[in-house]
Amino acid sequence: MNNPKRYTITAALPYTNGPVHIGHLAGVYVPGDIYTRYLRAIGKDVIYICGSDEHGVPITIRAKKEGVTPQQIVDKYHEVIKNSFQEFGISFDNYSRTSAEIHHKTASDFFKKLYKNGKFIEETNEQLYDADAKQFLADRFVIGTCPKCGNEESYGDQCENCGTSHNATDLINPKSAITGNVPSLKETKHWYLPLNEYEKWLKEWIVVGHKNDWKPNVLGQVGSWIEDGLRPRAVTRDLDWGIKVPVKDAGGKVLYVWFDAPIGYISATKEWAEKKGEDWQPYWKDKDTKLVHFIGKDNIVFHCIIFPAMLKAEGSFILPDNVPANEFLNLEDNKISTSKNWAVWLHEYLEDFPNQQDVLRYVLTANAPESKDNNFTWKDFQARNNNELVAIFGNFINRVVVLTHKYYDGIVPSSNGKIDQVSLINNFPKDISDSIEKYRFREALGKLMNLARQGNGFLQEQEPWKKIKDASKKEEVETIMNQALQIATALAVLCEPFLPFTSKKLKNILNLDDSLTWNDIATKKEFIAPNHQINKGELLFAKIEDDEIQKQLDKLQATKTANEIENKVMEPVKETISFEDFTKLDIRIGTILSAEKIAKTKKLLKLQVDLGFEIRTIVSGIAESFTAEEVIGKKVSVLINLAPRKIRGVESNGMILMTENTSGKLSFVAPDSVKNEVKNGESVS
Ligand code: MF3
Ligand code: ZN
Repeated sequence: MNNPKRYTITAALPYTNGPVHIGHLAGVYVPGDIYTRYLRAIGKDVIYICGSDEHGVPITIRAKKEGVTPQQIVDKYHEVIKNSFQEFGISFDNYSRTSAEIHHKTASDFFKKLYKNGKFIEETNEQLYDADAKQFLADRFVIGTCPKCGNEESYGDQCENCGTSHNATDLINPKSAITGNVPSLKETKHWYLPLNEYEKWLKEWIVVGHKNDWKPNVLGQVGSWIEDGLRPRAVTRDLDWGIKVPVKDAGGKVLYVWFDAPIGYISATKEWAEKKGEDWQPYWKDKDTKLVHFIGKDNIVFHCIIFPAMLKAEGSFILPDNVPANEFLNLEDNKISTSKNWAVWLHEYLEDFPNQQDVLRYVLTANAPESKDNNFTWKDFQARNNNELVAIFGNFINRVVVLTHKYYDGIVPSSNGKIDQVSLINNFPKDISDSIEKYRFREALGKLMNLARQGNGFLQEQEPWKKIKDASKKEEVETIMNQALQIATALAVLCEPFLPFTSKKLKNILNLDDSLTWNDIATKKEFIAPNHQINKGELLFAKIEDDEIQKQLDKLQATKTANEIENKVMEPVKETISFEDFTKLDIRIGTILSAEKIAKTKKLLKLQVDLGFEIRTIVSGIAESFTAEEVIGKKVSVLINLAPRKIRGVESNGMILMTENTSGKLSFVAPDSVKNEVKNGESVS
């Protein structure tokens, strides 16, 4: 769209079932923020809209797991997520939530309008049902094999492997995620949006109409679904958490979360407008408004097919001009996962790297998964900080500021006009804009860094620190420093969309207010005037040391170990025995009196155990966990009526009871109380 009158920028509403991590930031919120900050910088009328997605199955599952209500879950994580965004400078004009009254009303009204205008099909048919859980199984409550790609862990509404969206009954071998049961079928009534009726229109609009300006990954997915044929899609669910279906006979039913959540963009805009005393409607209804949805690739079907079909059915809304979806970011070569705790959580990052928001913003943009999945590694994070932010950007600014103070007491010297860096700088805004407007944020950031590189190269080539010693070059050095300060000033303005905290700091150092604009950098011949006083410097970026990185890697390793332990398959429960069987075991407390390794064995110790009424010889396979010396004097539980057995030529008369943890380490079964209060020979029962 050329020359839109205003922009409505949305970022996917995060599910409020956990905190946000670097994958969220890299895929959606940072690119959306760069784009919005850039539009503000060039003076556009723009709003950046987001909020918490508080309905849907993931939230009820989390609530069940934590033993609390869904409302408690969303209240907790709404605050956590909102704070993280704020701390990272994600500059939403409004961050709302789908539990807000205004959203319930907006979503209900939307449904009612479609209902009244006959846009739904009402149908009673058989759906998956878990009789034990007394619940219908849709969406993430059911797991089965994806009919398209064969992934065995597809959800009921979408396969995370191939992105295809389907109906729960399409799954092969479905299983309840609540009980593990094979579901039965039970009749229920629902309302369906007949996507098939929108197929032709969607094809014209996206596949043909946007073939040159939408990203290939988005066009590819949309094209293939349309090729496969679209089918009616239920927009209601048998659940009790969500927005009640606002028609008669719909007791116990709520709107499908993917029906209500995208309407959240509209409700959040209304809420913003109310607060600001603005009119929300032009942002959603004026065809000169450019609507852009920032999302991750798993959201493509919902933003490019289902939501547009809803908007079209409603009739009064504009459609997105673009949906620049990103691919996924992996962490140290593994898929980021909330449930496996395989993530860098934003709130934890800030504990370890306080005030270093821009470093993360920088690394995530430089490495953004724009056209393919990408990998975040801590080593790369460190290298980009130390070799790029510190060594290029930070180093340049530091030299300029230090030298300006040293030579001129912090007063900008004048230029004799014989050295011209400014006309080079003038090209940067347009060049960076070109990339941003095509949603190529890594490329744009690369161009910004080239400006810092240019500054560094300029000083290196001119060597003012040498020329200053030659009195005849006084004017030349002034000119060099003047031009270097022009570059520093341009950087302060142009880095703002990417590195807002750094921009602020740098403007502070240069003693600049916000009056200088993006466009000024493209057109003016001077950005910072002679005789202007700059402030004392502070470091923009600090080197990150190896031990800080090692700490992060250790943390991930600990997560890995914890997950392995959790996933270790426990031995199945043995066959039931009678009480009489149990009482046959004679277990007594004893003390190990002596121990010696049995020669030529790895595991065996020969023990003498005091049982109070006699001393027994017992051979025990514990030598890999204990030395002979350390077991002497230990209180133990002993099975004393086990038939004697010869082991390596030694007769063993009983068995010491042990536990074994997942890594094979043994411990004696002897409760603390045994150590002091129980005498040898007393029985365990
Ligand atoms: N909550 C969804 C997710 O995290 C995104 C919802 S986007 C909206 O994948 F459009 F529905 F708001
Ligand atoms: Zn699949």
